[in-house]
Amino acid sequence: MRTKPARVVAIYPGSFDPITNGHLDLIERGAAFFDKLIVSILRNDEKQALFSVEERMEMLSEVVGGFSNVEVGSFDGLLVDYAAQNGASVILRGIRAVSDYEYELQMALMNRRLRPEIETVFLMAGEAHSFVSSRLVKEVIRLRGNISGLVPPSVEGRLRKRVLGEP
Ligand code: PNS
Repeated sequence: MRTKPARVVAIYPGSFDPITNGHLDLIERGAAFFDKLIVSILRNDEKQALFSVEERMEMLSEVVGGFSNVEVGSFDGLLVDYAAQNGASVILRGIRAVSDYEYELQMALMNRRLRPEIETVFLMAGEAHSFVSSRLVKEVIRLRGNISGLVPPSVEGRLRKRVLGEP
């Protein structure tokens, strides 16, 4: 039988290119639920990112400053190894719609196979965020649509600069 650790540390991994209000909603829920939450960006991502890992870490740090038990990090290699190195027993992921489920199930089961002692915990973001994704936010801003309320204001400013070339 496994015993509950005295302090439950969770990793919230992702690309966060950039962080959205859906991610932020999940961070808020995770911070209230776990003793420590490490929001961590994958470094060796094959996807072409709009923002560098350092820029994404800066954006994350700006918006999680108010949470005393949230840290921002980045990782290379296997997520479960990074979790173990950081004393985390939980991987936190968000599920928006049924379409997320299959990918998340595959990852959760693969991670369990690699390190059975680490559990994946899914939380649902508020329904107001159920359609928000970094990919769609980038598409909408490229097409000059309104993204206010979908990302934190500081992130909206950076997106306007990067994508639209605004000062
Ligand atoms: O926000 P994303 O892009 O859906 O996050 C995906 C992420 C970073 C959680 C996933 O790609 C990941 O954990 N990559 C690390 C490599 C790894 O451990 N792969 C095997 C587990 S399935």
